[in-house]
Amino acid sequence: MLYHRPEQTDQAGFYGAWCRLQPAQRAPEVDEAGLYLDHAGMWLCMPGFPQPYRPSDAELLRRAGHGGSRTELARACGSDLTGLNVLDACAGYGSDGLLLAQLGARVCLVERDRLIWMLLHHRAQHMPRTETICDEARNVLQGPLSDDDSPSVNAWNVVLLDPMFPPIAKKALPNRGLQHLRQLTENSLVGNAKAEEELPELLALAKARCSGRVVIKRRLKDRVTGRADWQISGKSVRFDVYLGEA
Ligand SMILES: C[S@@+](CC[C@H](N)C(=O)[O-])C[C@H]1O[C@@H](n2cnc3c(N)ncnc32)[C@H](O)[C@@H]1O
Repeated sequence: MLYHRPEQTDQAGFYGAWCRLQPAQRAPEVDEAGLYLDHAGMWLCMPGFPQPYRPSDAELLRRAGHGGSRTELARACGSDLTGLNVLDACAGYGSDGLLLAQLGARVCLVERDRLIWMLLHHRAQHMPRTETICDEARNVLQGPLSDDDSPSVNAWNVVLLDPMFPPIAKKALPNRGLQHLRQLTENSLVGNAKAEEELPELLALAKARCSGRVVIKRRLKDRVTGRADWQISGKSVRFDVYLGEA
């Protein structure tokens, strides 16, 4: 369900093909995951949480403005991102992919979960050099680069793979955004191949369609998929970098 302020009826209508729409003066408490659209943007409403959640654009812009190019993510993707074609194949809220776009890359953000994609699409629509696709990463990696690209351009410069981290026995909860992503994707992880089992296939597809770097984001102690060419580690996450073969 997409709840929306009455003033947002036209904007909400765009999403009507994928969910039911209902006007609401404020974000409701919900029994199942839903979305709420107001003048500030799209919010995620989750059962058990009276307040809706929205990933912070201010934080994203702050990261981009203050040393964004020196973050481990940006360094893993390349020293100069200007004009590079980047595929963020497991985009989630888009915080990583949108940071790369803010740093000058053209970024295609792919998310398979329809509700998360709606949140992502609304967040990205006013950000330059971005497009979003709701699909499986493997379909996009096997398809054409983009409708309007010349046929001679058939490879991404960078592919970022960041599926959900494997579960660990840890008592502390992750931040609220990640808690919600985990709840929302639990079913698809059980119903589809588990993320860890899917990674080798996605890595092989990505390497075949990438002329620069394939970057996998994992926790520091997570298993490395295949043989990485090099790694960049931060405080809690690690970026495994593989050279593309396209
Ligand atoms: C850890 S989150 C990504 C977080 C993201 N890097 C960010 O900055 O917000 C993983 C996301 O990838 C999506 N995902 C996982 N496997 C996928 C696949 N094979 N194709 C498309 N999306 C996938 C999940 O639905 C989830 O939203």
